[in-house]
Amino acid sequence: MTIQQLISDRVAAALAAAGAPGAPAVVQPASKPEFGDYQANGVMGAAKALKTNPRALAEQVIALLDLQGIASKVEIAGPGFINIHLDPAFIAGRVEKALADDSLGIAKAEARRVMVEYSSVNLAKEMHIGHLRGGIIGDALVRVNSFIGHDVIRQNHVGDWGTQFGMLVAYMVETQKAGDAAVELKDLDTFYKQSKKRFDEDEAFADLARDYVVKLQSGDAEVLALWQQFVKLSLTHCNAIYQKLGLLLDDGDVRGESFYNADLPVLVNELREKGLLTEDQGAQVVFLDEFKNKEGEPAAFIVQKQGGGYLYATTDLGAIRFRIGTLKLDRALYVVDSRQSLHFQQLFTTARKAGWLPQGADFEHIGHGTIMGPDGKPLKTRSGENIKLVELLDEAIERAYQLVSSKNAELPEAERRNIAQAVGIGALKYADLSKSRNTDYIFDWDAMLSFEGNTAPYLQYAYTRVQSVLRKAEDFNPAANIVVTEAAEKQLAVALTQFEDVVFTVAEGSQPHHLCSYLYNVATLFSRFYEACPILKSEGEVRQSRLQLAAATAKTLKAGLGLLGIAVLETM
Ligand code: ARG
Repeated sequence: MTIQQLISDRVAAALAAAGAPGAPAVVQPASKPEFGDYQANGVMGAAKALKTNPRALAEQVIALLDLQGIASKVEIAGPGFINIHLDPAFIAGRVEKALADDSLGIAKAEARRVMVEYSSVNLAKEMHIGHLRGGIIGDALVRVNSFIGHDVIRQNHVGDWGTQFGMLVAYMVETQKAGDAAVELKDLDTFYKQSKKRFDEDEAFADLARDYVVKLQSGDAEVLALWQQFVKLSLTHCNAIYQKLGLLLDDGDVRGESFYNADLPVLVNELREKGLLTEDQGAQVVFLDEFKNKEGEPAAFIVQKQGGGYLYATTDLGAIRFRIGTLKLDRALYVVDSRQSLHFQQLFTTARKAGWLPQGADFEHIGHGTIMGPDGKPLKTRSGENIKLVELLDEAIERAYQLVSSKNAELPEAERRNIAQAVGIGALKYADLSKSRNTDYIFDWDAMLSFEGNTAPYLQYAYTRVQSVLRKAEDFNPAANIVVTEAAEKQLAVALTQFEDVVFTVAEGSQPHHLCSYLYNVATLFSRFYEACPILKSEGEVRQSRLQLAAATAKTLKAGLGLLGIAVLETM
């Protein structure tokens, strides 16, 4: 159990014993060191409800509060806050436990089947900057949820279906006849443009493309095989990006829109039988009173077009049926651009009404903002095109390489390349994860690659510094006791024990920036400790204890960055 939870339970018990059962304890880390380590702020609310004096109630709660072996001092502050100073021996014990355990002493959550759907690119186009955030955030959520023991299922809901695939397959066949399609497909955007050009200019080609669409939809084996070939080739491009970016996604996670094709007529029928469909100008529509448009009319969720075609929404309903029926999910996180927020609200509402999303299944849209240029508009190339992801990643690595080379010219070339990979990709990921995912942010190479401030290079460097201290201490005894005496030791140690709290917070609210702020705080507190408390110059028990604190810091930084998908280095 996390310390915050432990204190919270104890304060709640004392509140109940003092005549305020059920009153929330409101326990949080203290905002300033002079307020102790944790504060319980629930007394004021409880006193208000009981119409009693808050300070008197606080005194009563403290008298009844059992924090034996946990806190060394508990005091009232202000109108009725309770300040809790943790017992140094208790903190030391928690840090020792974290050091001795592979998962840093972190408790496992009650395991749920959690899906993280992310990346979900449209296969007809090359991956661009718009795919960066979802990939980075989704991957961090996969790692965090797995770490605390959930059964995590990754899904890549790629757009692999629709009329444009007739055209693309026709063009693939044409280029294959002429030479090597794999080469042509290396640049998907050009491939797409050229096939569109052929479609617009050549009647025979356009007819063939249309014929392919019909055949695809009716399940013609030959055309399906060609389409599969195209899908496979485009996925090769995605996989190369996932690898470069260090994402966990692979072919096994791909379940494209096409997968739900057979279920679409079935589910539309079911909606009709359930009385949820209305025909509107030939289209089949679910009207949702919950979402009114500007005119005050219920919003329309269209599931079948006039003429019979199905849509993005229909496929997503099919995906929900599969995710509940076959994947048996307890929780689903859809990491998708915030601009699709209305779609997901309508989707989940429709699915609930149809009875496809049972009580207790938590389906959430994990929306994210857009990456902006310095002008505050979505970042584009100079000529106004989408920035290709592969080029952006290469630039990050190249910039990191220049940086490392200028700082550390004597390192062998291969090592500098290796560091550049970790620092460049790490910087890109961290810049994204350290901001609240809901907001847009302005892309800034210099800021993200800085060795100062809340950045990946700063944290990666902090890690190597700690490791180098540990390497220098040849007598380091990894089984030594931790003794917390100095203020700087205590602050660092308390922060180290809060790793568990923050990991659970991130899993709960899907906001990785809390983990970033936490790691930055740990690194900052380590610097302070390092300055205030000599490690290598101290002796005996004190030296061993401080080395242990350093080791716990390194372990926490490495694990925390690992949860964000960021690698650490032993030297840089
Ligand atoms: N392929 C879609 C797009 O590029 C995103 C899919 C998001 N996921 C979903 N289940 N709708 O806009």
